[in-house]
Amino acid sequence: MNITNAIGCVISTTLGELEIIKFLGKGKSGYSYLAQNLEHQYVVKFMHYEHCAYYSFGNANKVELEVSAYGQLKRAGIRVPELLDANGERNYLVKEYIEGDLVTDLIIGGVLPELCIEQVCGMFQALKPIRLNIDYFPDNFVMSNGVLYYVDYEHNPYDDNWDLANWGLFYWANPHGMKAYRQTKDPLHINESAESGLPIKQPFIETVNGWVNAYCG
Ligand SMILES: Nc1ncnc2c1ncn2[C@@H]1O[C@H](COP(=O)(O)OP(=O)(O)O)[C@@H](O)[C@H]1O
Ligand SMILES: [Mg+2]
Repeated sequence: MNITNAIGCVISTTLGELEIIKFLGKGKSGYSYLAQNLEHQYVVKFMHYEHCAYYSFGNANKVELEVSAYGQLKRAGIRVPELLDANGERNYLVKEYIEGDLVTDLIIGGVLPELCIEQVCGMFQALKPIRLNIDYFPDNFVMSNGVLYYVDYEHNPYDDNWDLANWGLFYWANPHGMKAYRQTKDPLHINESAESGLPIKQPFIETVNGWVNAYCG
């Protein structure tokens, strides 16, 4: 199967045969699709091994990394989609589909609710004491009936430079940049340089500090 273009494919899983019907998104680790059987919709994620300039996964099997990350995040009380099946050999995960709005869309549309910031800060406050970071980039969050989910399972050892207050929130505070980035895929709309993976900060310091003082304190 071509994981970059899997629409129309049928994959057999422990949940039965799932038909892949829609592309949802792609990040550093995989291609995620909406899939269905007669009763339910799911997310099927196929891991990729494409190069990323500022992040390395080491040699581990990426499916197994996500399975172990899922367990840790669940135990930490982070709201994540249920993991329903995982197969390292066949390189896929099946997760609960979270219906709602991708936070990136809310940011670009200028309709990001304060409640959403409050909830991502709540995740940060649950994770920092146990020395974990998640990928706080807005593509990884879905708002579903007023409840925020982290739909990716990736986590990393805690590091100030890549946490919510010093890194992630600068994307949440930059609607024009996020819109231009989506349209052009040029990271210079949101990052200080092409390969650093570090956000433009200066224009957004006040907004981010306001959020941090209100909700991450
Ligand atoms: N359970 C889910 N419910 C709804 N949308 C999802 C779900 N999982 C993933 N997505 C969408 O697919 C995209 C890519 O999935 P993600 O797991 O973040 O991949 P990566 O690890 O490569 O970043 C997400 O940014 C989101 O838009
Ligand atoms: Mg992601």
